Amino acid sequence: MDRRQMESAIAGIVRLLGTSLKNRGLYPLTHPLVRTPVEKCHAELAPFFADRSELALTVSDGTLVLEGVPIFQLTSSLELFMARLGAIGIPAVIFERGVSAADVELFVRFLHETKEQGLSIPEIKTRLAQWGVAHIRVTATDDESDDYTLAREIYGNALGVVVRALKDVRNGKTPNGEESDRAVREMSGMLTRNRDAMLALTLIKNFDEYTYNHSVNVSVLSLAVAETLLLPEQERIGIGVAGLLHDVGKTQLALDLIRKPGTLTVEEFEEIKKHPEEGFAILGKMTHIQESTRAVVREHHMRYDRTGYPRPEPEYRMNPYSHVIAVADCYDALTTMRSYQKARTPRQALEIMRKLSGKSLDPDLVQLLERSLGVYPVGTMVRLSTMEVAVVTGVPDDGKGEPKVAILFDRSGNPLPTPEGVDLKEDDPSSGKPRRMILGTVNPLMHPPVSMSGVLQTIAR
Ligand SMILES: [Fe+2]
Ligand SMILES: [Fe+2]
Repeated sequence: MDRRQMESAIAGIVRLLGTSLKNRGLYPLTHPLVRTPVEKCHAELAPFFADRSELALTVSDGTLVLEGVPIFQLTSSLELFMARLGAIGIPAVIFERGVSAADVELFVRFLHETKEQGLSIPEIKTRLAQWGVAHIRVTATDDESDDYTLAREIYGNALGVVVRALKDVRNGKTPNGEESDRAVREMSGMLTRNRDAMLALTLIKNFDEYTYNHSVNVSVLSLAVAETLLLPEQERIGIGVAGLLHDVGKTQLALDLIRKPGTLTVEEFEEIKKHPEEGFAILGKMTHIQESTRAVVREHHMRYDRTGYPRPEPEYRMNPYSHVIAVADCYDALTTMRSYQKARTPRQALEIMRKLSGKSLDPDLVQLLERSLGVYPVGTMVRLSTMEVAVVTGVPDDGKGEPKVAILFDRSGNPLPTPEGVDLKEDDPSSGKPRRMILGTVNPLMHPPVSMSGVLQTIAR
């Protein structure tokens, strides 16, 4: 299914839900005008679950949005459907894989027969359970803990796409470009919806699967930079896809070489240097890949000062987006532990990158990355004026000011039973000054390791 087919299928599903709801008010329940739309809707939902486990339908700013696709062609039945969701108090509906026609039927019936208005989410959840509706759940769109779950799923899905792409190449097959495109669109959408949740996941570093997590991280980080460049969507997606596939040419290399600790021999480095061209060739065979994306994959090691590989001819014009990938690539590499290097903290990594600014890295883009990650990037451990130790959980909403933090250790260094999110803008009533301020960063090695996604989930609750 391509994007357009998907959008029209999505519009169809929602329209069918609306039609069934509307006819329900006019005809008896057994009437075909009530039953048929429900069955059709269920049949149209099925293909979506071939490659995803959930389908989210939300109402945002008076627009119905299914999987990030706004439905604009409003019909009277659609309006009725939205009005019912709104009246009952349902901001978002999630269809899960395994949803049956009976579930859809019960859900529509629930919408039709529930007369109370503005119910709370827990109340609606209880009622749906009483009605026996399975595989359709409601959530609040501003429920942050759901955002983290969603972000993790989206990240995991992108990881799966990379794993498959690399496996395909190893087996002499051409990877599915549409899959990469879709995964990147999801990540881009999630970044807009909850930037902290999506960015926090780039701190996932899996040593054995270096290329996989690395690829997804570079994609997310490049998308974050592309967002600050205010580029049109198509170009942003192209950059994200380049990030996801930038090292796809490494599959041609022996795995031992990729994972080899210590310095490489001259011959080994010559082998490594082939991966951008290999990637360029692989992307050439894939569908749904923009020409510029291909160029970026070829150029991601050329470097800002053009001293990298493949060495560009003097008149060769590099794609400016190649520098976005290079910056994201460098940041993720520095913050990842390897057999030959310890992992740098986000701040240390940015410090090193500042020194590479204007040399191997584009200085403007290093600055943009810094700005999009904040002065204290997510995951940075900080000492507060109260002597408590906290971890940064989010960048400030306006990009400036105080980051969001969660306290992990009390002033004596004892770990709290659960991380406690605190607001640094909160004043101490007795002095009128902020109750807590950041004194500076602390060495994370002085404290037991923390799971960022665990922290984020705890404080989001
Ligand atoms: Fe690379
Ligand atoms: Fe890389």
